[in-house]
Amino acid sequence: MVEERDAGREGRDEGATVSRPVSESEQGSRDGAGAPARPAEAGVSRRGLFGLLGAGAAGAVVGAAAGAGVAVAVTGGADASGPAASVYPFFGEHQAGIVTPAQDRLHFAAFDVAETLDREGLIALLTEWTDAAARLSQGLEVAEGGAVGGSDYAPPADTGEALGLPASGLTITFGFGPGLFADAEGADRFGIATRRPALLEPLPRFQGDALVPEISGGDLCIQACADDPQVAVHAIRNLSRIAFGRASLRWSQLGFGRTSSTSTTQATPRNLFGFKDGTANVKAEETATVDEQIWVNASDQPAWLEGGSYLVARRIRMIIENWDRVQLGEQEQLVGRSKGEGAPLSGGTEFTEPDFEKTGATDAPLIGTDAHVRLAHPTSNGGARMLRRGYNFVDGNDSLGRLDAGLFFLSFQRSPQQFIDVQRNLARDGLNEYLKHVGSAIFAVPGGVAEGEFVGQALFDTP
Ligand code: HEM
Repeated sequence: MVEERDAGREGRDEGATVSRPVSESEQGSRDGAGAPARPAEAGVSRRGLFGLLGAGAAGAVVGAAAGAGVAVAVTGGADASGPAASVYPFFGEHQAGIVTPAQDRLHFAAFDVAETLDREGLIALLTEWTDAAARLSQGLEVAEGGAVGGSDYAPPADTGEALGLPASGLTITFGFGPGLFADAEGADRFGIATRRPALLEPLPRFQGDALVPEISGGDLCIQACADDPQVAVHAIRNLSRIAFGRASLRWSQLGFGRTSSTSTTQATPRNLFGFKDGTANVKAEETATVDEQIWVNASDQPAWLEGGSYLVARRIRMIIENWDRVQLGEQEQLVGRSKGEGAPLSGGTEFTEPDFEKTGATDAPLIGTDAHVRLAHPTSNGGARMLRRGYNFVDGNDSLGRLDAGLFFLSFQRSPQQFIDVQRNLARDGLNEYLKHVGSAIFAVPGGVAEGEFVGQALFDTP
């Protein structure tokens, strides 16, 4: 029987509050001294609003939203419009950048901590990162008057390329890699080895992996997503700068064109194979599924990770020149969905649940046994789901003149095992002929940050 998994998803609301943008006149743009003039101040000024947020208004918004499992943009006035005007609260029950609606652009960075860094230094770094991220995500400079308001005889505190730009929906999400808990020699530099989540192990080797160590792993990560690439890059650049001498960039990845939707209010985008991607993704509005499959909860260990999640990053090169020579019918067979509508080959429309039993004239299943959606579907994986939040990338070309392009796959799940099970099942995926996994990393993503705290603070609290 063909069922609608998400019938009437457009505008559907299971009690969750859906994000609305704040107007630029209310929230404004970064405006260090000498920055371009902003539109007429109709509402609360940016600094005024930030003061309000700091005084607890944001907490109220987040509190309401977090209860529903959705982070919510501060509500705007009559002129609120467009993604550039969106502002997501930084503080809340969960970190932003997971169930918040996926933005269009990404700058992701993985860091190695310096050999000389000690526990105090790590806490200081996380505290400074938290303060800076809270400001940046509200459309502020990294420090008041940061770019041009300081001394003529000192380097500016903010690098300045986001002056005059609005928050653009910037979210900044921090994660801790396995190497933070013990280095390669097993040394517990920060006194947190006994608090490493047992599940936070480097991912096992998967069939077909062609991993490059230089673009894999990392002790810390920062995911910056925004609707303006300059805003995302500005965030990573300034946070990397703050880390100078304490943590250095190991690898980083720019992404354009989200390859998933994380809210029923968003249209499904397309990946570089030209297919709709994100149709069957976990959506923020599915609050019961989000609680069951995405957030680490009180019954899981360790307790400091409650409200957090596990983040898997995979840099998947797509051999698009070969793909572009594949017939349309075969492309659709490999995915298991139609290219135009994104409907399952068993029939229906985009959000019709696939019927894997349904056969065609030759008695063969309409969705083949090696089709990607069959192998990735929860019914093939003991019910496991994940929240995908990946991006397209094109990083120039290789020496053979082929585009160095693909999918920077990001997924959040309550346990890394959910990803591992699906990825193992995908060993038979017909798409593999056109894919190469070249980068891989895993991080524990702490829960949300309360005002006055730093990200991951519970990890360092005395039990
Ligand atoms: C470049 C590599 C990949 C491409 C091009 C790709 C593409 C797609 C497409 C077109 C869909 C159907 C639309 C949708 O429901 O989102 C899909 C679904 C899905 N993919 Fe992938 N994917 C890739 C890698 C992966 C990886 C590495 C995983 C996880 C290990 C994964 C997990 C899933 C899941 C869970 C679904 C939803 C299945 C369902 O419930 O129907 N994908 N993918």
